[in-house]
Amino acid sequence: MEKKQLQAEKLPRHIAIIMDGNGRWAQQRHLPRIMGHRKGIEAVREVVRECRQLGIGVLTLYAFSTENWRRPKAEIRALMALLKKFIRSEMLELHQNNIRVTMIGDLSKLPGDVMPAVREIMDVTAHNTGMTLNVALSYSGRDDILRAVRRLVAERGRKAAEITEELFSSCLDTAGQPDPDLLIRTSGELRVSNFLLWQIAYSELYITDVLWPDFGKKDLAKALRDYQTRRRRFGLTDEQMRTG
Ligand code: FPP
Repeated sequence: MEKKQLQAEKLPRHIAIIMDGNGRWAQQRHLPRIMGHRKGIEAVREVVRECRQLGIGVLTLYAFSTENWRRPKAEIRALMALLKKFIRSEMLELHQNNIRVTMIGDLSKLPGDVMPAVREIMDVTAHNTGMTLNVALSYSGRDDILRAVRRLVAERGRKAAEITEELFSSCLDTAGQPDPDLLIRTSGELRVSNFLLWQIAYSELYITDVLWPDFGKKDLAKALRDYQTRRRRFGLTDEQMRTG
C-alpha cells in the first residue's frame, strides 16, 4: 500500500513530545528501568535528526518533570548521568546541524555537576538558526506559569492592567517561539501531565500506544500525516476559516 506523502507546506512549526513508556519498555524485557531511558536516548537522536531534516522550527522534548524529583534517588542519578552523557556525545552533531539547544524548566533545581554541561550546550549553540530543540528539565507547566507571573511582577514591575497574552507569553520559558501545533504523547496515556499548559491551548493532540524507546521516524511520519488531516479552527467556524 502506497503511504500518503507528507505535505511540506502543512508541517507543524513546533512539535512537543511527552516521551513516555521507557520504564514499561524495560519492564517488558525484564531489564532495569534505566535501560529503557538509555534506549530512549536513541529515539531522541532519531527524532531530532528527522525533525531537522523536515525543517521543523521548534521541537520540545519533556525529559524530566518537576514531579520526577520524587522518583527513587538511584533513577534520578541515572537520568542525570544520561543527560550529561547525551550533551557530551551529541553537542557537536547538534551544533554542526545548526540546532540551537535550550534547556527549559527550573534549572536551579538541577544538581551542580550537571549545570556546566547544560550551560555549555546552550552557550555553544545559542546563535544557531536551523531548529530550536527545547529539552524540558525539571519542568512543569504550572511552574512555568508561576515563574512567569513572578518575573512580570518582580522583575518587570508590571501592573495588572498591562498584562496581555503576548506579554505573558514573553515571560514563559518558550518566549519568542510559536506555540506547539502538535503535541505527541507516547505509550497511550490520555493526559497532558503538566506539560506546556499555557502553550498547548490550541495544539493538536496525537497519542500513540508505541512506547518511547520504540518511537522512530516512521511513527513521527504517521503522527504528521494524521496532523495534516486535522481541521484547525482556533475557535472559529468552518465558514470563517474558509473566508478568512
Ligand atoms: C518517561 O518514561 C520518561 C522519562 C521520565 C524520561 C525521559 C528521558 C529520556 C528519554 C532520556 C533523557 C533525554 C534526554 C533528552 C537527555 P517513564 O519512566 O515514565 O516510563 P513508564 O511510564 O513506562 O514507567
